[in-house]
Amino acid sequence: MATTPYPSTPIDFHRQLDPSILKGRTALVTGGASGIGLSIVTALAEVGAHVTLVDIDASTGASVTETLKSQGLHVIFAEADVTSWESQAKAFQRALRISPQQTIDIVVAAAGIKTQYASCFPVESAATDKEPKRPPTATLDVNLTGTYFTMSLAQHYFARSPPHPAKQMLFIASMAAYNQSTSPALSFDYTASKFGVRGLFHQVRRPELAATRFGGARFNLLAPFFIASPMCPPEEVEELVSVGWKVGDVEDVREGAKRCLTDHSIRGRVVVCCSGKGNGGGFGDANFDAGDDLEGGFGLPAVVERKGWFGSLEATAKRWVSFKPAQLGLHSILLASFLHIKDVAFEAFIRRNALTTEQAGVFGWSNPWYL
Ligand SMILES: NC(=O)c1ccc[n+]([C@@H]2O[C@H](COP(=O)([O-])OP(=O)(O)OC[C@H]3O[C@@H](n4cnc5c(N)ncnc54)[C@H](O)[C@@H]3O)[C@@H](O)[C@H]2O)c1
Repeated sequence: MATTPYPSTPIDFHRQLDPSILKGRTALVTGGASGIGLSIVTALAEVGAHVTLVDIDASTGASVTETLKSQGLHVIFAEADVTSWESQAKAFQRALRISPQQTIDIVVAAAGIKTQYASCFPVESAATDKEPKRPPTATLDVNLTGTYFTMSLAQHYFARSPPHPAKQMLFIASMAAYNQSTSPALSFDYTASKFGVRGLFHQVRRPELAATRFGGARFNLLAPFFIASPMCPPEEVEELVSVGWKVGDVEDVREGAKRCLTDHSIRGRVVVCCSGKGNGGGFGDANFDAGDDLEGGFGLPAVVERKGWFGSLEATAKRWVSFKPAQLGLHSILLASFLHIKDVAFEAFIRRNALTTEQAGVFGWSNPWYL
């Protein structure tokens, strides 16, 4: 068992939620115009928080804000690009201006993008002796640098206000930060960005930091599995479901957020958000505490225990072999070894792509056990 770095108890998912701690408090949600971020904006506003919805998408941001305002909710829109410090800083200033207590109490970093298949996998230039192409870094910029800026701004405002049970920063990583990658569709930069978000969270959740630098704020992290949203559109959902995965809904993540935001005993925890309905329950019913580096080692034991909740093992093998070599990333192969299906997947991969064993080795299959 891993050493617990500080006192923190696993989440009790049966504990009664206390949304009253959010009433009248001020929240800022990046990526709030769509999907997971929008569901969290709505949940916060519905219990009486004053929410600043931050997004780069001006037209959607303005339009969803108008809809929420027409329901009598306290929501404003601040157009901002999270990769720009100045742009995000202005959004925080706007949030402070509408704050009844002149504090920013809740910060949720949901802005994110996903890179397409293995766009940073250098097969093409390696095979043809062409000059290597500079890989794209937008995903790292938005998901990691953007979240880093959000955290730094949160620190600035948290440090200036007294402790309060609602005071919290909620990080949004992904299951990609826990099991190398759940899909060849998630390329190196996405996975790395989400491991990076998890790294930021690991550093700031320490209670001595929370007390001295962050005005007593709590830090928690949500790690969604595949969730139907504009980032994971219907055609991708259809493909995932067809090979046996269970795809969650934004409401599953919303419930994970509500749990962390309204239970002030939750500090430094990770909620894995997966399909409640797909597991025979309601939204959020299948969510669980990853015990990330606390009780659960690296977080993986809790995930492995529940792997059936995400979908079948065969689904993984089937999905991999449907990809061409150029679409495969090494991280996918690492997950294959982790799930102990390497032999099935290896055979099928070679057959599907008409490769020799040596050729397959180029993709990392020769030594898949070095996790
Ligand atoms: N959908 C999934 O399967 C899934 C799984 C795991 C983690 N996540 C994470 O959840 C978060 C929300 O994803 P989603 O599924 O709701 O996607 P989404 O595309 O519906 O929402 C992302 C939002 O972020 C905004 N955004 C993008 N770049 C921005 C920038 N530079 N500045 C400000 N806003 C920006 C977009 O305009 C959009 O409104 C992301 O961090 C994503 O990586 C999603």
